[in-house]
Amino acid sequence: SEKTYQHLLVSTPKPGVGLVQINRPKALNALSTPLIAELNTCLRALQSETSISAIVLTGSEKAFAAGADIKEMKDLTFSSAYGRDFIESWSDLITFLKKPLITAVNGYALGGGCELAMMGDIVYCSKTAVFGQPEIKLGTIPGAGGSQRLTKAIGKSRAMEAILTGDNIKAQQAGEWGLVARVFETPQECVDGAIKTAEKIAGYSQITVKAAKEVVNKSLELGLRDGVEYERRVFHGLFGSKDQKIGMGAFTEKKKAEWSNE
Ligand code: HXC
Repeated sequence: SEKTYQHLLVSTPKPGVGLVQINRPKALNALSTPLIAELNTCLRALQSETSISAIVLTGSEKAFAAGADIKEMKDLTFSSAYGRDFIESWSDLITFLKKPLITAVNGYALGGGCELAMMGDIVYCSKTAVFGQPEIKLGTIPGAGGSQRLTKAIGKSRAMEAILTGDNIKAQQAGEWGLVARVFETPQECVDGAIKTAEKIAGYSQITVKAAKEVVNKSLELGLRDGVEYERRVFHGLFGSKDQKIGMGAFTEKKKAEWSNE
């Protein structure tokens, strides 16, 4: 994971926490194909790095990401987009990641940038954040899950308004609507807050965290009855883990739990 990237800065600000900063300042972090390829490579590396428990993804103070790269997309044809499943690799980002991902949004999170932000398990922003799906202004529509995730996050009427007008959603509104879990005063506080939350998560058993993320995500796919049953199965399964014994044993003995991640 010591690999260097052209468009990303990767560090470990706290034990167990991987910090990925999108760094393509000249284009306000526009998400070009090479950038997305790097992001996939980087997240895959963090995913398989056993010392990493949680990941924070952020951009710059000016832009989380101003969207997919319009200059790259403008001459795309139907057959080349369809033929090479343009954008599909983006959803791999979220579907293969089993470790928690916190997105920390400052400045512009537009189009694909908003879609990427919403792929976070937890989304934080600062007061500088500007969310939006402006694709309609370019003669297109969201293509990396925006119409689905925004609607699930803030409801149909608000999502329709945003997607059909292309109007931005400001930070405070994003907070009130539950698009983000928290709105911080400044960009630095936002990134620090995300790292702090990641550090807290990294202090728990990796196996329990994995199960917790899995069951919450199931709620988006299953009906209530199946979802509750799924949760109960995983809950039962955790009685087979060492860390359930360690956690409940430590409580009983009034000690701090020392997790085995097993
Ligand atoms: C390529 C981009 C870009 C983008 C900004 N830039 N956004 N290049 N793709 N999405 C480039 C500009 O061309 C410019 O480069 C440089 O970044 C700085 O941008 P400015 O426009 O000069 O900055 P500013 O005046 O501060 O305006 C910021 C902005 C504006 C409001 C965010 O850049 C903007 O509207 N960007 C496009 C936002 C957008 O429409 N996003 C959705 C894209 S479609 P040069 O070389 O000219 O100086 C999309 C589809 C997703 O995301 C579908 C599936 C993923």
